[in-house]
Amino acid sequence: MIGRLNHIAIAVPDLDKATALYRDVMGARVSAPKPQPAHGVTVVFVELPNTKIELLHPLGEKSPIASFLARNVDGGIHHVCYEVEDIYAARDQLKAGGARVLGDGEPKIGAHDKPVLFLHPKDFTGTLIELEQV
Ligand code: CO
Repeated sequence: MIGRLNHIAIAVPDLDKATALYRDVMGARVSAPKPQPAHGVTVVFVELPNTKIELLHPLGEKSPIASFLARNVDGGIHHVCYEVEDIYAARDQLKAGGARVLGDGEPKIGAHDKPVLFLHPKDFTGTLIELEQV
């Protein structure tokens, strides 16, 4: 069911520092910071030949990554995103297998303007998983 790895999201306490690290030390192509108020994050996209890294930094009062950064003060991997062809079919199959879908269980339009769902980390070996329909 799951397809390609779309991205790995890393929450960072200092976006400028993390961007400079990937650009100057790792030699990667990085985007300008993109505020995404609807998602409570500012994102820098790091383009790799086979996938993307998304550097996430909290934006606004109720950022969904604020508590994660409070627990992980140096930052850390926040979620991985797998591509699926049909997000409703994927959701129904996962729920039938006992997995919990976060929120109200309905796909939302994600950071890439495509439908996404998040799966409970306790059901997936401690990893928050995002599914994105491509
Ligand atoms: Co994501």
